[in-house]
Amino acid sequence: MDKILVRGGRPLSGSVKISGSKNSALPILAATLLTKEPCVISRVPDLSDIHYMLTILSQLGCEVERASGTVTIKAEKIVTEAPYEIVRKMRASVCVLGPLLGREKEATVSLPGGCIIGDRPIDLHLRGFEALGAAVLVHAGNVKVLAPELRGTTISLRGKFGSTVLGTDNVMMAAVLAEGTTVIDGAAEEPEVVDLANFLIAMGAKIEGAGTRRILIEGVKELHGAEHEVIPDRIEAGTFLAAAAICGEGVTLHRVHPADLKAVTDPLIQAGFVIESNGNQMTLRPGATRKPLKIDAYPYPGFPPDMQAQMCALLATTDGISVVTDNVFPQRFMHVAELKRMGANIELQGQTAVIHGVERLSGAPVMASDLRASAALVLAGLQAEGTTEINRVYHIDRGYESIDEKLNMLGADIERVKV
Ligand code: EPU
Repeated sequence: MDKILVRGGRPLSGSVKISGSKNSALPILAATLLTKEPCVISRVPDLSDIHYMLTILSQLGCEVERASGTVTIKAEKIVTEAPYEIVRKMRASVCVLGPLLGREKEATVSLPGGCIIGDRPIDLHLRGFEALGAAVLVHAGNVKVLAPELRGTTISLRGKFGSTVLGTDNVMMAAVLAEGTTVIDGAAEEPEVVDLANFLIAMGAKIEGAGTRRILIEGVKELHGAEHEVIPDRIEAGTFLAAAAICGEGVTLHRVHPADLKAVTDPLIQAGFVIESNGNQMTLRPGATRKPLKIDAYPYPGFPPDMQAQMCALLATTDGISVVTDNVFPQRFMHVAELKRMGANIELQGQTAVIHGVERLSGAPVMASDLRASAALVLAGLQAEGTTEINRVYHIDRGYESIDEKLNMLGADIERVKV
């Protein structure tokens, strides 16, 4: 298990290339199960979560070839049961349920286990499959969905925390091969859902309204192979913006979609940073002042919950009182205890962190608890006095391609140590 040492206090400057989106690539790779023909997906990031997904696809019978960022998958002959040993490692494995159900009319996947960022049910996914005519059986830790046929219908995927991203993906992937028309109400509007819909459309699916709350899908008999380039990772981009805000002297991100990042750049501008966008690139510079913020994380187009922890790291050293509320994952505040060990003054009130900015954090040994919490600790380490030692960094490798190398190119001093 590797650990990361961050020696704080080095200013960041220069430019960095943003990788393809993890949360787009995962369901898009799963969607290749919908056709027997080969699909070619480019800008697939090199991450352990992607590796798990490719292993699951191989075990389901797909031929998988990977050459740097391009993955070719041919799902000619497949089985419909995903093995527990791999599935348990990644919650996003559930997104093979939709395409398997769509194509083979049955699928068995282990139920995702406990998750460090809180209770993460899949009831909305299952509700959607049932509405399409599938029976859902939960037995011996597995969920099995099967249907003699799938019939289009109107489905609401609104849950108590708003829309569901992978639930929308899953139901959309099953519905593309259903009889008739499916309407998903309360659909997730995230850019990653739009990216998946665009790939499905390239495969021959008929989908309208992706990116809005109402998606309309007209079922087709079969899909064909297609090529697709994954969109840039807006959360990786947001994380680098937060790093640049914490200790940057001017950092430019290449290969970003600025429009997808508005919910992150708006508060950063409000906090006093100067952000300029030009086509697919964006530069953040320090402004004359730095102000505290009130942030409420909500589903897209709201402030992304996947950026909440990184903003806590930034606001920990922003003078004044900031308030950060997570309305999607109320329990995702594991980073707060670790930031406090580094000297942050943060009070947790339910799903809200009240942050009293301190002048500087101090390096300490800390424990990464989940992907975004680990990113927050790296960011905190960049500005801290002394060395921050982050243990359990496998979390960060799930979702950030070479974050240490990319930050070092910008001037950080980060060392990865084999333990
Ligand atoms: N929810 C339910 N029932 C369901 C599904 C979700 O109650 O059937 C609840 C969840 O517990 C949560 C809320 O609805 O409170 C939203 O969850 P959602 O289903 O949207 O999350 P997800 O699709 O499982 C994806 C990303 C997460 C990201 C969330 C929210 C992928 C692979 N994962 O998860 O990414 O936080 O959307 O934007 O796309 C990450 O990258 O670090 C990460 C956790």
